[in-house]
Amino acid sequence: MSASADLVINGGKIVTPDAVFEESVAIADGVILAVGAESAMPSARETLDASGLHVLPGVIDDHVHFRDPGYPHKEDFASGTAAAAFGGVTTVFDMPNTIPPTGTPEILAAKHEMAAQKAHVDFGLYGLLGEDTIRHVPELAKTVIGFKLYMGNTFGKIPTPSTGAMLEAFEVVAATGKRVSLHAETNSIMERRETRMRDAGRVDPLAHLASRPAVVAVEAVSRAAILAEWTGARIHILHISSADELRPLREAKARGVDITGETCPQYLFLSADDYGRFAGVIRVNPPVREKRNQEPLFAALADGTIDVIATDHAPHAIEEKTRNDIWTVDCGFPGVETQMPMMLTEVAAGRFSICDYVRWSAANPARIWGLYPRKGVIQAGADADIAVVDLSREWTIDDAKLQSLSRITPFHGRRTRGLPLHTLVRGRFVMRERELVAAARGWGRSVHTIQQLPAPTPRNIDDTITAIVRFPTVAGPTGHATPHQRGKR
Ligand code: NCD
Ligand code: ZN
Repeated sequence: MSASADLVINGGKIVTPDAVFEESVAIADGVILAVGAESAMPSARETLDASGLHVLPGVIDDHVHFRDPGYPHKEDFASGTAAAAFGGVTTVFDMPNTIPPTGTPEILAAKHEMAAQKAHVDFGLYGLLGEDTIRHVPELAKTVIGFKLYMGNTFGKIPTPSTGAMLEAFEVVAATGKRVSLHAETNSIMERRETRMRDAGRVDPLAHLASRPAVVAVEAVSRAAILAEWTGARIHILHISSADELRPLREAKARGVDITGETCPQYLFLSADDYGRFAGVIRVNPPVREKRNQEPLFAALADGTIDVIATDHAPHAIEEKTRNDIWTVDCGFPGVETQMPMMLTEVAAGRFSICDYVRWSAANPARIWGLYPRKGVIQAGADADIAVVDLSREWTIDDAKLQSLSRITPFHGRRTRGLPLHTLVRGRFVMRERELVAAARGWGRSVHTIQQLPAPTPRNIDDTITAIVRFPTVAGPTGHATPHQRGKR
């Protein structure tokens, strides 16, 4: 090989969703130039000895809340992406429940500019899909990674669209090819339950779980799937917390709906038994549920019903998590930095393979969000987004030492096995030997420019209605039809 490389990683075991093999990786200009025998590698400016280590595609965490702009005491894009770098995460998708919410092209543009200044890792930004923002969809679609729709109330108090508005929103988004991520909890059920709990004088942590029983999520997932089936919209069910949601998810997949699912470590590793110990710290939406949900969630990852492991990294200040009245405690906790070590601990225990982990954390999110094969895989031509991992390194999660500004999690004290030692984003070290590379601040780029999502198959478009009510439509880069044109076919 004649070309020369910036970096060659030798001696490591490369992990794909299907195999683990010992090869070298050559990187030039941020891209993987070659994967192969050490003797076949080009000359390089620098080499990294990864003997005894595993070389994983960097994690793509499609669900983080970096709070920027709006809540600088909880997190900002610099601290959040530093936490990502420490977690072996090379791409994050940031949620729109910031102040102001990411619902207009102007606000989105400002957020892009801010993030580009501060990010240590690559990022995508979600656009808010609410009743008032449907009209902005065609413009927002040009630079968002996807849309976020809140079917129920959670931190940030974003209003919940009616089912009617949701149908229209899906119809408009379907024409753009983007995917809609759903906070799938039905608001009206939770509101009534919470009122009953409060009226009964309940302020204890378990009252939070009681106010959001699994039917809240089951109803929302089922309804969202029906609307997605009708419109052809792609949807992604965020933070699946219960075994009961799996049935509507499986059924929708079997019907051919383009629906994907995600779960998070809190639903795999914590349970209702932990509310006494953690009190408000464990409060999160959807709630951590009864232990009997854990095995079915693991099984759903294994059989492909759930596609993705993400974190819902939701940082808050200590005083916001430790109030006595559960209804006044902010929901969520950080996770972007601890997901990989927690999941690798299960690899060490033999619950699933390192290949499975790479499928759920990198390859699947890359495919679902249209980033594959530029991201989510270690092969020639892909971005050099890499986590170099020591599978035998033991670690104890210590909230006080996290990169996140939020130093309070229900994972504190957990002993883990398997830790990222180095994280590279497009060939550049952003975390090296468990130290942040400070100069990498501002290296992160928005991934919307590489996103490729072919237009979905058109579904039920009502000729009469679309002829009368002109929803905003866009002629996408692939020149796909508007809803009106489709109706005429
Ligand atoms: C999230 C937050 O704090 O932004 N909180 C949470 O409990 N999960 C919002 C969300 O994802 O629901
Ligand atoms: Zn949510």
